[in-house]
Amino acid sequence: MKVAIIGAGSLGQSIAKGLLSKKVVSSLYLTKRNTTSLESFKRHKEVTLTADNTFAVDNADIIIFAVQPKHLSKILENVKYLLRKEQLIISVATGYSIGKIENIIGAKHSIVRAMPNTAASVRQSMTCLSSNEKGKEQIELAKTVFDSLGVSMEIPEEQLQAATVICASGIAFWMRLIRATTQGAIQLGFEAAEAHELAMQTCFGAATLLKKSGNHPEAEIDRVTTPSGCTIEGLNEMEHQGLSSSLIKGINASFEKINQIKTK
Ligand SMILES: NC(=O)c1ccc[n+]([C@@H]2O[C@H](COP(=O)([O-])OP(=O)(O)OC[C@H]3O[C@@H](n4cnc5c(N)ncnc54)[C@H](OP(=O)(O)O)[C@@H]3O)[C@@H](O)[C@H]2O)c1
Repeated sequence: MKVAIIGAGSLGQSIAKGLLSKKVVSSLYLTKRNTTSLESFKRHKEVTLTADNTFAVDNADIIIFAVQPKHLSKILENVKYLLRKEQLIISVATGYSIGKIENIIGAKHSIVRAMPNTAASVRQSMTCLSSNEKGKEQIELAKTVFDSLGVSMEIPEEQLQAATVICASGIAFWMRLIRATTQGAIQLGFEAAEAHELAMQTCFGAATLLKKSGNHPEAEIDRVTTPSGCTIEGLNEMEHQGLSSSLIKGINASFEKINQIKTK
């Protein structure tokens, strides 16, 4: 598999690290206008660093555009004459629709829009994917790329904005919950570093329990709530203070905001 990452910035480098560690690429072209910050990738024999997007595009089977949305139109215009129908075109640019990409390069190309999150750098991204009609032929290949960075799920393009809130913004939401738990643990007498470790591992354990058992969260809650015990006391107090409600309201506020940004 020959892959080009056009715009190897923060997310592009995370994707590159995931692909290299899974050893799923035979050649990996990384582009940036200034490639100095990519020098550490030189130790991988599969990697070619270049500031020339056309060279990378011409040599790859899969091209991942990981530039900021404001740069994407111009870059696509510059390389579109090189694109071949058998290549898979992937864009991770937030809010940049498949229709907009088709308007520049044409609908005859396989186009996939992907929304990973920053956990791609530790290969734990939740990535949502959508494709154009032609791209359906290569969606499994796109899933292979993003499964090397965590877990991927195909969804309709209309749901990508919602997925951005749940998965990309979601990283921040979960971070805040972990921080709040840490603050609570410090109040109960733990050192900050200990409190942080307790909060992180308990969060990780809770998610792993659900993933491995397939259980509903309430089933796992039932297992740890003794009648009249301390867990249900704390949980009910959190709900009286609006825990679930505030999360749902926050998710809806983010969704409203992302839709406003899109239509500006
Ligand atoms: N970070 C995330 O968690 C995340 C999650 C989902 C989606 N996204 C989307 O992913 C995209 C990239 O995000 P990011 O955080 O990785 O941004 P970033 O760090 O700014 O990376 C973009 C890179 O593109 C390069 N670039 C700019 N113009 C270029 C050109 N003409 N040719 C080649 N490279 C060029 C820039 O490097 P030079 O200045 O050296 O060229 C920069 O390093 C964005 O569209 C963002 O919306 C990000």
